[in-house]
Amino acid sequence: MIHNYSMVLVFFLFVASSHAIPPQQVNDICKQTKNPTFCASLLNSKTNADLADLTQYTIETALANVTNTINLINSLIAKSGNNGNLASHYKSCFGNFRKALEDVDFSMVLFEREDYQGVGAAMSRVETDADDCVSGKSPSDYNDPSLLPQYCAVVESVASITIILSKSLSS
Ligand SMILES: *[C@@H]1O[C@H](CO)[C@@H](O)[C@H](O)[C@H]1NC(C)=O
Repeated sequence: MIHNYSMVLVFFLFVASSHAIPPQQVNDICKQTKNPTFCASLLNSKTNADLADLTQYTIETALANVTNTINLINSLIAKSGNNGNLASHYKSCFGNFRKALEDVDFSMVLFEREDYQGVGAAMSRVETDADDCVSGKSPSDYNDPSLLPQYCAVVESVASITIILSKSLSS
């Protein structure tokens, strides 16, 4: 009895540890991203996950964050009524994030197809679209007093993590 039980336990531990990626690998991945601290806290919040699980998790997080950003932009557009510069800034960001939403959706399809290079390419377009909303072409370089630059930074960070994860998966 005891013997069988310990065999099962050893087997379980083996399966669990071969599935999850080691903490050092999380650090190595996060070092390559824009915000290593943010990256480590996001990836460590998903326990016992392999590279594919983490990639899927970051794509889902990107979807939530892009959706939140679009909702924020909609409320900012509604509030910016008679301020022309601000309104056109938010409208141009809205266009960027509509594209970003399509790319995040597409990256889910690519992930299902195990096209990890495609996932990386789609996520680098998301990163660029979010970045252009903060530091891109005029009037996007408008000094924005809202929460939008912070939301854009979160989207950029999550996209950059997904890019590194998908590179590790396709190599
Ligand atoms: C990003 O998504 C995560 C997971 O849903 C959430 O915890 C976080 O608050 C979101 N941040 C923004 C800025 O949307």
